[in-house]
Amino acid sequence: MCGIVGYVGKQPAAPLLLAGLRRLEYRGYDSAGIATLEHDRLDLRKRQGKIDEGLHPLLTQAPLTGSLGIGHTRWATHGPPSDANAHPHTDASGRIAVVHNGVIENHDRLRQRLLEARHRFLSATDTEVLAHLIGVHYAQLATGRDPARSRLTQAVERALREVIGTYGLAVISADEPGLIVGARRGSPLILGLGQGENLLASDATAVVAHTRQVVYLNDYDLATVTADNFQVTSLGTQTARVQISEIEFGAEAAERGAFPHYMLKEIFEQPATIENALRGRIDLEEATARFGGLNLSAADLRAVDRIVIAACGTSWHAGLVGEHLIEAFAHLPVEVEYASEFRYRNPPLDKHTLVLVITQSGETADTLAALREAKRRGHPVLALCNVVGSTIAREADGGIYLHAGPEIGVASTKAFTSQVTVLTLFALFLGRLRTLSPSRGLAVLRALEQVPDQVRQLLAQNDALRDLAARYADRRDFYFLGRQINFPVALEGALKLKEISYVHAEGYPAAEMKHGPIALMTPESPCVILAPHGFLYEKTLSNLEEVRARQAPVIALTTEGDTALAAKATEVLYVPRTDEFTFPLLGILPLQLLAYHIAVLRGCDVDKPRNLAKSVTVE
Ligand code: AGP
Repeated sequence: MCGIVGYVGKQPAAPLLLAGLRRLEYRGYDSAGIATLEHDRLDLRKRQGKIDEGLHPLLTQAPLTGSLGIGHTRWATHGPPSDANAHPHTDASGRIAVVHNGVIENHDRLRQRLLEARHRFLSATDTEVLAHLIGVHYAQLATGRDPARSRLTQAVERALREVIGTYGLAVISADEPGLIVGARRGSPLILGLGQGENLLASDATAVVAHTRQVVYLNDYDLATVTADNFQVTSLGTQTARVQISEIEFGAEAAERGAFPHYMLKEIFEQPATIENALRGRIDLEEATARFGGLNLSAADLRAVDRIVIAACGTSWHAGLVGEHLIEAFAHLPVEVEYASEFRYRNPPLDKHTLVLVITQSGETADTLAALREAKRRGHPVLALCNVVGSTIAREADGGIYLHAGPEIGVASTKAFTSQVTVLTLFALFLGRLRTLSPSRGLAVLRALEQVPDQVRQLLAQNDALRDLAARYADRRDFYFLGRQINFPVALEGALKLKEISYVHAEGYPAAEMKHGPIALMTPESPCVILAPHGFLYEKTLSNLEEVRARQAPVIALTTEGDTALAAKATEVLYVPRTDEFTFPLLGILPLQLLAYHIAVLRGCDVDKPRNLAKSVTVE
């Protein structure tokens, strides 16, 4: 996934574009660049590396002028990270510049055709091919074009008709210095509407400092944007639908504030974001939950006899928690699939199967493909999503927004707890349509209402978690164990650690260790065991003993007031007393903080870990 930004107005474009790219850097950060127009002169700067390492120093040495420009921060798909492969890319004339998020699948064939027409390319990217193609059409439109529309818009339109693939793009031309052309298909692009200025961007975090009025462009939309106006047409058969929306968060939500990393800020936001996920959705009177956007009636949901959940990464872990919740509360069979597997597995789905996709970004290509496959087969698809107006949110038949605000840290934290909160409410809602008793429903709601304050209590353990992390930050192998609904929590704790500290970590069902993985236990391999009080507590203690017998350090999480584990485990972390089905919302907190502090102690880039991007919009 990459981030693109465009600006046309009265202010100097370069500083504003740079600030916008910083907001989008979580989408990809292996290179970055900006192009601006000063009258009819197009100039660009681009450099490999993160913005602070490459583009910013370059702009300081050689500033760009002009009040119109485009920018890009890259997560490499075609061509390795390098100065040459960084965007923007220009056409053969050097008078048209393009920034692009997506994949042009037929770029090889297009490149070959252009090479035969004596074009020369400076990069290995598909985007440069697109820039040259736009340039060819621009030259051909010297005559015979529609006088009512800009020549650049028509050139982009003609070029995109030859393209197979996905794009969110912004294009400028030195021959039309007052406008930017934007287009999207399969990659997000929004229009930010200012006073005497307008912006284009991959998502709202890059424009919210300037305006909260936005237009979420649709697939096949083509936008022609000037400082005082915009026009949207459609490449497809349908006419463009322009709807002006309000961004639901303020500029400060996209700022890091006093925190050293976005990830820590987002971990500490969780009491508030869980409250946001609960807000307006608890019905104590009926001991159930309320949702506004399911677009499915109670009768529709009553008829559902199976649920398939498709997601990736952390969202997949949330889905596994949801499986336990829905099966326990609603006695509905649930299967949780990796979205990347679901779309090709051709699973047997009967007509009353409901498909639920879970995604923070709403742009994950595998999850989007799973949604489209389910819809192609005629199944209703609900989306649990955090980004309003995202592709998945728009294509689902209904859904539930997380209201967690922008999640910038690549490692997902607040989105996970918001997803699990919403899944708990959704499972309760389904259960109360079926066999879940009012008293049990009320007990779960009461437990949920306490979670934000209990999370606040857990966050107060931050210093203790940092000290604990210091004792194990040099270890190379970690294991995370949990039973039943806490097995996915173990998986999520392992993923947090491995993706930001590059330490090998695995999650297992606690009882599974003796079927092989326990062979890996050594005094050097810390084992985090989730052992809350409940009906499997004693069984989990047995697993803890098995691990201790191999001298592996045990970091045990248990319910506050426990008196047994202090004598059995190397370290003990206490979690406030809660319902067994709301424990995941609490148990994950120490694991998030442990991963965060180990990564910081290991000198890792917590917010922008190597090789990763916030949302993977390629398959
Ligand atoms: C989680 O920390 C990772 N960043 C990654 O696994 C992520 O959860 C996954 O790519 C799914 O993203 P989504 O929720 O935006 O679809």
